[in-house]
Amino acid sequence: MTESSAMTARGTAQSGEGTPGRDGDDRFSLLIVDDNPVNLKMLVQILAPDNYQIAIMKSGENALRSIRLKKPDLILLDVMMPGIDGFEVCRVCKSDPDLTDIPVIFISALKDAASKVRGFELGGVDYITKPFHSVEVRARVQTHLRLRRLQQDLVRRVEEEVAKRMEQQQLLIQKSKLESLGRLAAGIAHEINQPLAGISMGLDNMEFKIEAGRAAPEYLTGKIANFRKDIERIQNIIQHVRLFSRDQATVILENVDVNEVCADALSMLETQYRRHDVQVILDLDEDAGFALGNRYRLEQVVVNLLTNAKDAVDRKAEREGELSFEKQIRISTRRRNGEILLTVMDNGVGIPEDAMDRLFEPFFTTKAPEQGTGLGLSISYGIVCEMKGDIRVESRPGRTTRFQVALPGIAGNFPH
Ligand SMILES: Nc1ncnc2c1ncn2[C@@H]1O[C@H](COP(=O)(O)OP(=O)(O)OP(=O)(O)O)[C@@H](O)[C@H]1O
Ligand SMILES: [Mg+2]
Repeated sequence: MTESSAMTARGTAQSGEGTPGRDGDDRFSLLIVDDNPVNLKMLVQILAPDNYQIAIMKSGENALRSIRLKKPDLILLDVMMPGIDGFEVCRVCKSDPDLTDIPVIFISALKDAASKVRGFELGGVDYITKPFHSVEVRARVQTHLRLRRLQQDLVRRVEEEVAKRMEQQQLLIQKSKLESLGRLAAGIAHEINQPLAGISMGLDNMEFKIEAGRAAPEYLTGKIANFRKDIERIQNIIQHVRLFSRDQATVILENVDVNEVCADALSMLETQYRRHDVQVILDLDEDAGFALGNRYRLEQVVVNLLTNAKDAVDRKAEREGELSFEKQIRISTRRRNGEILLTVMDNGVGIPEDAMDRLFEPFFTTKAPEQGTGLGLSISYGIVCEMKGDIRVESRPGRTTRFQVALPGIAGNFPH
C-alpha cells in the first residue's frame, strides 16, 4: 500500500450505507490517517465490507494536503504521529470554514480521559481506542456517516426554504409597492398637473404680452425662471416615483435619513390628505439621525402607515359625520438611547382588541378588496426587521392608534 494512493476497498455492501452521490462515484469517501502501516492495513480490512471509497495517508502533513484537494466524507485520524499530530490536523480542519463540517473520529492507543476530552474539545465526533474491535469500528463509522448525511440534507433543505421565502418576500414587497402606487396615482397625477397648469397659464400670459408688444426683458426672464422651477418640480416627482417603484431585489445598505424619508412619504400623500381634509402635524426631531437600510423601502413603510392612518380617520368621519369630526394625523421622529423612534398617530377608528394579534399577518384586512390587500403591515414588518428594528402598536378603539417604528440609529450623523 503506497501513501497517497486512493485505494478502493470493495466488498459486499452489507450495510447499504455506502450509497451517497458524489463525484460520479456513489460511495462515501473515507480518509484514514495513521503513521503505522499495520494499523492502516487493519482498518482498511475492517471497513472493506462496507463498500467505501478509502484513501490513506501516513502523516499529518500529507493528510492536510489531501483533505484540501478532495474533501472526504469522514476522517479516521490517529492521534500520535511524528510531525503534525492528529490533534493538530483536526484543529486546522475545524478552523477552516470549508472543512469544518467533515466528521473526525480519533484513533489512539491513549485511553486516558484527558486525551479523549482534548479530542472532543477540538471538534472530533468520536474516539476509538486501540486495539480495534471490527464491529465497533464499523458501527461508529456508519453512525457518523449517517448523521452527516442527515445533517447535509437538513442544511440543504433549510437553504432551499430560506431562498424560496426570500423570493416570495421580494415578490410581495414589489406587489404591494405597485399597488400602493396605483392607489396613489390620482394624487401623483394631481401633483404633476399643478406645475403643468402653471406653465400653461404662464405661456398664455407671455403670448398675450408679446402680441401686445408689452413683453419687457425682465418680465420674460422672470417667467422663464418660474417655468424652470415648475419643470424641476415635475422632474423631481417623476424621478421619485421611478425610484420608489423600482424593484430593489438587491438591497444596497445605505445611511438613511429618517426625517427625509418621512417628508418624502408625506409628499406622496399630501394631495390626498388635502382633498380629504386631514390635518397633518409633522414633528421631526432634527437630531433623529440616520438608520442603516434602504431609503425607498423605509419610505414604503411610512407610506403604508400613513395610508392606514388616512383610511382610519376617513372611516371615523363616515361614522361620525364629516363636519363634527376633525381628522388628525401626527408624524414624529425622536432619538432615544441610540434608537430612532418614528411614530404615526391618528385619531381614527382605532383597532379592536381581537384584531391586534392579526395585524401583521399577510392578507389580514378589514377593508374592501379595492381598498386594501392586507399586505401593508406584514411587508412593513419585514422591511423593519431587515433594518434590525421593530414595530409596536397601541390603540384605543374608537379614539386613537399609534404605530411606532424603532430603528437602531447609526452613531453620529453621517452624510449619505
Ligand atoms: N391606523 C390604523 N387604524 C385602524 N386600523 C388599522 C390601522 N392600521 C392598520 N389597521 C388595520 O390593520 C389592517 C391591516 O393593515 P395592512 O396595512 O396590513 O393592510 P390594509 O391597509 O388593509 O391593506 P394594504 O395596506 O395592503 O393596502 C387594516 O385592514 C386595518 O383593519
Ligand atoms: Mg395598509
